[in-house]
Amino acid sequence: MGAFRAFPYLLPLLSGALVLVPLIATGSDSQLPKARTDLNPKDLKRVTSVTKPTADFSKAEQFETMSGGAATTKAIVNGDAFSHFSPNITFEEEQDFKLGNALFTKLWVSAPSSTQASDGLGPLFNARACQSCHLKDGRGHPPEGSADSTSMFLRLARPARTDEEREAIADFRKINFPDAVYGEQFQDLAVPGLQSEGKMQIAYEDVPVTLGDGEVVSLRKPTYSVTNLGYGPLEGDVTLSPRIAPPMIGMGLIQAIHEADILAKADPDDKDGDGISGKAALVRDHRSGEVKLGRFGFKAQNASVREQSSGAFAGDIGISTPDDPFSHGDCTKAQDDCLAMPTGVQERLGPVEAPDPVLPLVTFYSENLAVPARRNIDDPIVLKGKEMFYSAGCTACHTPKFVTRRDAGNKAHAFQLIWPYSDFLLHDMGEGLADGQQVGVANGQEWRTQPLWGVGLTKTVNNHTFFLHDGRARNLTEAILWHGGEAEAARGAFAAMQKQDRTALLTFLESL
Ligand code: HEC
Ligand code: HEC
Repeated sequence: MGAFRAFPYLLPLLSGALVLVPLIATGSDSQLPKARTDLNPKDLKRVTSVTKPTADFSKAEQFETMSGGAATTKAIVNGDAFSHFSPNITFEEEQDFKLGNALFTKLWVSAPSSTQASDGLGPLFNARACQSCHLKDGRGHPPEGSADSTSMFLRLARPARTDEEREAIADFRKINFPDAVYGEQFQDLAVPGLQSEGKMQIAYEDVPVTLGDGEVVSLRKPTYSVTNLGYGPLEGDVTLSPRIAPPMIGMGLIQAIHEADILAKADPDDKDGDGISGKAALVRDHRSGEVKLGRFGFKAQNASVREQSSGAFAGDIGISTPDDPFSHGDCTKAQDDCLAMPTGVQERLGPVEAPDPVLPLVTFYSENLAVPARRNIDDPIVLKGKEMFYSAGCTACHTPKFVTRRDAGNKAHAFQLIWPYSDFLLHDMGEGLADGQQVGVANGQEWRTQPLWGVGLTKTVNNHTFFLHDGRARNLTEAILWHGGEAEAARGAFAAMQKQDRTALLTFLESL
């Protein structure tokens, strides 16, 4: 029997900690708050002042070392740097975190099995545990060689074909439409006795780029395809969107950023003419039906850590939860063999494979992984690089700081000065990075600004430096050179820098 089933009393305790921040959203005319209602005028003034971008690069800013505010870990930097709980959670919450950790690393097995508490995997799946993709609570990587595509997968979707479907997207009821046979995601693994959907293939082509000072960098341009298809061809208008698992730090803090602060930076029609628009991702919470601000996932398609986590249980592992109760994972009506496989549901525990408190515990864990403290913030090269980062225009999207809402559901996330380096908006990043897949508000060229906190610890935690949504960049320089579209000017500024300034900018990123 799994640990979580022995602790049913945790539920009431957890539900208190997991109350999601209330939003004023009504139907399709989303009324997200335009101003911070959680602060009195005096606090609002303080917050406005403290979050103003700095113009002084002669020294570090106050509190700059604490990237996650009081949820920052100052533990010795090693391979576990992303796996610490936020130091400001309570002792009781620490126990929940540990139970959540056990569930995050738990390997699910196919049903029926003797260890009934762990079965229900698949029938189609990409991995057997959350941790198999979010390696060491960090990021995944593209496959090396023909095997090992575990921490990366392809999302499948086709655009709307009819007015009715277009309306469903406009009304946030749908984000796109699945392949009629393969569903929403391409699962390259299946339980014994069932055919997998096939294999993902990547072909890379070298693209040389000459920088301002003559240095040549070779980028690798990926092309994605699928082979060994188990269930016939994909539909003609279905696109493949490759994704590697992103790091898990600071999720609860991101969730606690006030909508008004994110919306304040949105400029979808580029009214200020700076070449940077930034669109808010609006999504309908599939439990409450409310329209909310999306902030998780590479297209900001999920409004809460809980939505993202239940989606991962269902789509990535094939485990049903009370939020996503279908126990055949991503099997579609056209996959009879898949639908005929046994599930891991046990009547006495309820109608799903992972009954409460599995999802609340995993969600709690995911929300409370501490952000590592900055290193070397006073180093003159780091400060120089920070100045370069600002002057190149990186902060137009990689917003340095926010103060989280005072009324956050979990006190550990409330009223913290945090430094995620993201505006959590969608930006057109050009054709080079495009996956051609619409995801709700995001079109096929748009991506959510990736937070940069912890980016300098990638090598330490994951022993590689693959960046961007599909891990195509082999280092930070390549990641920046792939920026296009709205980020073209910033990319150009970086490419035109003298080597010394470029190195300083990279040293700054390494200190995050
Ligand atoms: C097969 C690999 C895989 C597995 C297994 C997996 N994830 Fe993920 N995870 C991803 C990918 C890829 C993304 C980015 C998703 C996107 O853009 O839609 C992601 C995104 C997330 C995010 C949002 C991160 C962000 O920066 O917005 C959270 C939270 C998360 N996963 C939690 C979980 C939990 C909890 C589990 C286990 C129930 C899990 N994941 C299992 C691959 C995986
Ligand atoms: C127009 C908005 C925008 C600007 C300006 C911008 N970025 Fe980004 N950045 C993004 C988005 C969006 C992504 C995610 C792209 C992806 O995953 O394909 C990203 C990703 C990154 C990544 C990879 C992070 C990771 O975890 O994989 C790095 C590093 C980065 N940016 C650095 C910079 C630097 C340095 C600058 C300035 C020279 C800059 N960015 C300017 C929007 C922007």
